[in-house]
Amino acid sequence: MKILVTGGTGYIGSHTVVELQQQGFEVIIVDNLSNSQAGVVDAIAQITGIRPVFEKFDLVDREMTADFFRRHNDLNGIIHFAAYKAVGESVDKPLMYYRNNLVSLMNILEGMIANNIPNLVFSSSCTVYGQPDELPVAETAPIKKAESPYGNTKQISEEVLQDTIKSSKINVIALRYFNPIGAHDSALIGELPLGVPNNLVPFITQTAIGIRQQLSVFGEDYNTPDGTAIRDYIHVVDLAKAHVIAVSRMINKKMKQPFEVFNLGTGNGNSVLEVINSFERVSATKLNYKIVGRRAGDVEKVWANADFSNKELGWKAEKSLDEMTASAWKWEKAYRSRS
Ligand code: NAD
Ligand code: WQD
Repeated sequence: MKILVTGGTGYIGSHTVVELQQQGFEVIIVDNLSNSQAGVVDAIAQITGIRPVFEKFDLVDREMTADFFRRHNDLNGIIHFAAYKAVGESVDKPLMYYRNNLVSLMNILEGMIANNIPNLVFSSSCTVYGQPDELPVAETAPIKKAESPYGNTKQISEEVLQDTIKSSKINVIALRYFNPIGAHDSALIGELPLGVPNNLVPFITQTAIGIRQQLSVFGEDYNTPDGTAIRDYIHVVDLAKAHVIAVSRMINKKMKQPFEVFNLGTGNGNSVLEVINSFERVSATKLNYKIVGRRAGDVEKVWANADFSNKELGWKAEKSLDEMTASAWKWEKAYRSRS
């Protein structure tokens, strides 16, 4: 079974390529390396013993994308990770985000239709729920007005997909990720943010290793037990495994509708201070942090209702918060010692 993984040298994509190859899938990666490095292909080969095919080009380029699909018209499925994902940057550069995230998706859909490629797994996000009225949040919860252009690209993408399946033979599984963290146990692949990290865990590990001076904890006046915001952190390898299950479900024609949505979270929420405490415990280091004001656009608390994914996909996130922070720390140390 041959699978195209767009964004396959990125954070979640690279972990998914490893799981796919370990389950016997043949993988082709397309990535323009706008937020990742070509060396990730070597790391994947080192972990799995198999070198995935890698083509470097921009999926926003309609002709290049059409040409790719003409050359690879025998794909059994596509897992589409390639997108820009920095929330703050999307506020400053909305058109860059709309163009990259939406045009690439449309080019891929055109390629699928032209070549009768039936199955697409799409990377969506819990950001589509905003601050949900009910917690844990289920897939049936209403979509709130997006907080950022980035979030809006995910909402619009889901709409583009829903409209497209109605007039084509394409099937789609949209996976709404909560907060992926951690790294592969080999410490050969992991999260590699460019510049100053926006996300909590890379900021923690970079502070602990001495690249950042201090972590700012954004807000301690939320309506939560310790006052800091709550998220559903999920290990990236657990997340990657769900993609293998999703693409297999499509190939094996087990879908119940042509457009399915699944939450990918653990079902548990943890506060920022709980993540910090976990990190300090597993790393046996003291983290330099201070409490500052809230970050604009942050929701107070969100965690997944994962019942539908657990039941329908037969998948469950297995790794604990301590395993997540420990693997993030192992990756940070290994990466810095190599570079
Ligand atoms: P990432 O930036 O590490 O990976 C994305 C990859 O796509 C990068 O390697 C980048 O070079 C590539 N890419 C971007 N635009 C491209 C284009 N036009 N053509 C070819 N390649 C392109 O991000 P990630 O964390 O692995 O996220 C993967 C997907 O999951 C994204 O769609 C993201 O929006 C979504 N997502 C991520 C998170 C998260 O917290 N990491 C949460 C929810 C959803
Ligand atoms: C987690 C918590 C921060 C950094 C983002 C996107 C979302 C999805 C996942 C893609 C929050 C706090 C953070 C710091 C802190 N991505 N924090 N100090 O904002 O939940 O979600 O990534 O779809 O769309 O918005 O993740 O890791 O940035 O923040 O106190 O330096 O950590 O306030 O409560 P977030 P995050």
